[in-house]
Amino acid sequence: MADTVWWKRGTVYQVYPRSFQDSDGDGIGDLRGITRRLDYLAWLGVDAVWISPFYPSPMADFGYDVADYCGVDPLFGTLADFEALIAEAHFRRLKVILDFVPNHTSIAHPWFAESRASRTNPKRDWYIWRDPAPDGGPPNNWISNFGGPAWTRDEATGQYYYHAFLREQPDLNWRNPDVRAAMHDALRFWLDRDVDGFRVDVIWHLMKDEGFRDNPENPGFGPGQAEINRFAQVYSADRPEVFDVIAEMRAVLAPYGERVLIGEIYLPVERLVAYYGADLAGVDLPFNFQLIQTPWNARSVADLVVSYEEALPPGGWPNWVLGNHDQPRIAARVGPDQAAIAAMLLLTLRGTPTLYYGDELGLAQVSIPPERVQDPWEHNEPGHGRDPERTPMQWDDSLNAGFSTAEPWLPQTTDAAIRNVEYQRDDARSLLTLYRRLLRLRRDHTALATGTFRSLPATTDFVFAYERQDGATKLRILLNFSALQQVIVITDPEENRWSVLLSTHAARTGGGADATIILEGNEGVILIQAA
Ligand code: GLC
Ligand code: MG
Repeated sequence: MADTVWWKRGTVYQVYPRSFQDSDGDGIGDLRGITRRLDYLAWLGVDAVWISPFYPSPMADFGYDVADYCGVDPLFGTLADFEALIAEAHFRRLKVILDFVPNHTSIAHPWFAESRASRTNPKRDWYIWRDPAPDGGPPNNWISNFGGPAWTRDEATGQYYYHAFLREQPDLNWRNPDVRAAMHDALRFWLDRDVDGFRVDVIWHLMKDEGFRDNPENPGFGPGQAEINRFAQVYSADRPEVFDVIAEMRAVLAPYGERVLIGEIYLPVERLVAYYGADLAGVDLPFNFQLIQTPWNARSVADLVVSYEEALPPGGWPNWVLGNHDQPRIAARVGPDQAAIAAMLLLTLRGTPTLYYGDELGLAQVSIPPERVQDPWEHNEPGHGRDPERTPMQWDDSLNAGFSTAEPWLPQTTDAAIRNVEYQRDDARSLLTLYRRLLRLRRDHTALATGTFRSLPATTDFVFAYERQDGATKLRILLNFSALQQVIVITDPEENRWSVLLSTHAARTGGGADATIILEGNEGVILIQAA
């Protein structure tokens, strides 16, 4: 695909639909709410909105337990609301990416009701049923990602079914061709309604070992880690057969033109890049979560970026993610001062960036009182819950920060009166303004959107410096990961005409830069080479 394809040039913005905007006063966000806020996304300057699941669901895992792949849960609205959303988005040149959840359904999906009815039901094999181990226990040692065994015994037939997540989320059997066909139909249902692509939930989980071998112990497992880490997920995920499944999904999208296929994949870089597939027949963008997992200092981040760039297959397009609905908020992890560095990094690296709603305001982790906990993971394994990063968007200083007229399903930040869109939008020094300027620069400079990347030699241990180039245009990005001033030599003797295009510190005035530049603590700058 050419460099001009939208998902290479563009920026993706993730909306968690329960938390973006409520339109009907029930304290929970919905599709009409998202539609109402599309002008904001257009103003901000993102190109695509990925919406976490809004399908009919008992909400055991807040929509990642799907009871019908071709509908809208009444909590979120109607199919007509969705059609209005997509039309309004496209009118504003915003793409819409859906969350496709193929690994498991809800226990309430009619397919599962049939499957569990009897061992001979035609849909028995649509899910993963096994006899008990000789001692009557689970068939093997696989653990649920939310803690506890990944197998639940079903009284009706005496067999166990497999669930990589909650027992309310039974895994589909992707070895069964009828399952594949039914799921392809679901993709077409939405493609026919003009969606621009899919983010595929836990795509590396789709195929499991045919022999269901026990996973080996993980020697790195220690206190504080979630129970899933007790074993290395060698046989329960990342199996070679998954690549056929992905290639088939791709083939479903192909006739529809420039649609994007994004895979959610938590694997080390060497394994992650395999998901581009042989001859790029895999996903377009295997989500790259390395920035979330790497210690926040200049050397670690520089090493990571360089090694990721080197690991990419020929033609494989990079991508970067700083946050999502499963991970602690970036502003909380790196601190408010470094949040601006994180923004500049995300939006100046080579590759498609994905922003998580509210990160542009610097939303923090919100501490959730025990009686308001929603995430089932928090109930199973205290401390691992994801509610703190799923709190409602903060729009203005009115009741509930403009999110809803009713008490929101999760509390908002204590500084909502000033940490909101209205407060930050006209403030030249706000994080929101910085995000908006960065997004504008990405649109204005092909060097940033699709140019080459080159890491620059470090002149201090605290600065990550790199160059982006397209034709004659060169940009240099200098990011100070420390709170101390850093003196940087920016030029080669013969090419010393650099000027500041943007700084995280609004006080820095443009103008020409000399052969050295003094970065303030926590400052990042983008320099452009004058002609
Ligand atoms: C993915 C989702 C997460 C969900 C899980 C099970 O990791 O991002 O929120 O709980 O899959 O569907
Ligand atoms: Mg609502």
